[in-house]
Amino acid sequence: MEFKNSEPKYSGLAIIFHWLTALGIFICFPLGLYMADLKLSPTKLQLISYHKWLGVTIFGVLVLRMIWRAFNKAPALPSNTPKWQIGAAHATHLFLYVLMIAIPVSGWLMSSAKGFTTVYLGMFPLPDLIGKDKELGDTLRNLHQQLNYALLILVVLHIAAAIKHQFFDRDGLIGRMIPTFRK
Ligand code: HEM
Repeated sequence: MEFKNSEPKYSGLAIIFHWLTALGIFICFPLGLYMADLKLSPTKLQLISYHKWLGVTIFGVLVLRMIWRAFNKAPALPSNTPKWQIGAAHATHLFLYVLMIAIPVSGWLMSSAKGFTTVYLGMFPLPDLIGKDKELGDTLRNLHQQLNYALLILVVLHIAAAIKHQFFDRDGLIGRMIPTFRK
């Protein structure tokens, strides 16, 4: 089944939220991997700051996105979509939201536990969420890392599903998030 212009699609705001979050994650994730392996140096500290600012920005956009989402339903999938695919899509989207919240929060908690206050854009100190505790800081670092690997798996699944719809099912679903793909 193909989507026509009159059929349900995401609003402009939903599309902006989606691509802002995706862009932020596509930068923050590799930056995190790269900086985590560097030896301690002024460059590493500067990159960690950029990573934190971007991560906090993603978190802010996500809070707005979730508020918007609470009042707006996602457009329905094509009526002939098998039930298991609808369930899989909903579960993936739910877990993506959970991880996109848990990752920045775990990063913020980690920074607090390690005793490094996050100063947003170098100007606005954010409150430390917990007291200094080195052991807990190390645990939270592991958690931050594992959550990111889980996110990677889900994003790969999410993109694979979009490719399947576009090139195998040819149902035009991708045009709901990328307007230039609309017929
Ligand atoms: C969606 C947002 C975020 C993504 C995708 C992300 C991703 C990552 C990744 C992939 C790593 C490397 C993990 C490793 O291999 O050890 C990392 C490390 C790190 N992240 Fe994030 N992060 C995000 C948000 C945040 C936030 C909001 C903060 C703090 C306010 C933060 C603080 C850190 C720190 C300090 C490290 C370095 C740990 C170390 O080297 O000791 N992250 N992040």
